[in-house]
Amino acid sequence: MKRILQAYNKGKQKRKYFLIWGSVWSMMILSGCGSNSLPENNLDATVDQVSAEEKLYQNYCLNCHGDKLEGEYGPSLRRIGQKYTAEEIINIMEKGIGKMPAQNYIPKSEQQQLAKWLVKRK
Ligand code: HEC
Repeated sequence: MKRILQAYNKGKQKRKYFLIWGSVWSMMILSGCGSNSLPENNLDATVDQVSAEEKLYQNYCLNCHGDKLEGEYGPSLRRIGQKYTAEEIINIMEKGIGKMPAQNYIPKSEQQQLAKWLVKRK
């Protein structure tokens, strides 16, 4: 019974922490709101709208394939879905192709996400 009480009290303490953090957070959010009308913040908002796949692309592929998939050192990937299946794109990331070095340090799940996103470019 004692233990149960102890556990219950611990839980209570934790909940207290949540309440404190909760109010800290809401204060931060509220104070942030005041400056939302500034143009800089609107810019931030558009950056936040970048999808997870686009972020992966930016991290791993943008340097060579251009920031709008238009191609740079590597060819354009704008219509890559017409040329390859998702499997083939994963294979290219895994093994490289021609002058493109293998990108096999990218976790498999992220390669799959990227490939799924890229095959839609047609
Ligand atoms: C170091 C630069 C570099 C990076 C980083 C890079 N690529 Fe490439 N990529 C190339 C080059 C160069 C080619 C052209 C290869 C050739 O044909 O000689 C290429 C070709 C490709 C092709 C085949 C294009 C075609 O038309 O046949 C695909 C698909 C591709 N890359 C996908 C990716 C993806 C997805 C990423 C990110 C995970 C990526 N690449 C990262 C340089 C790069």
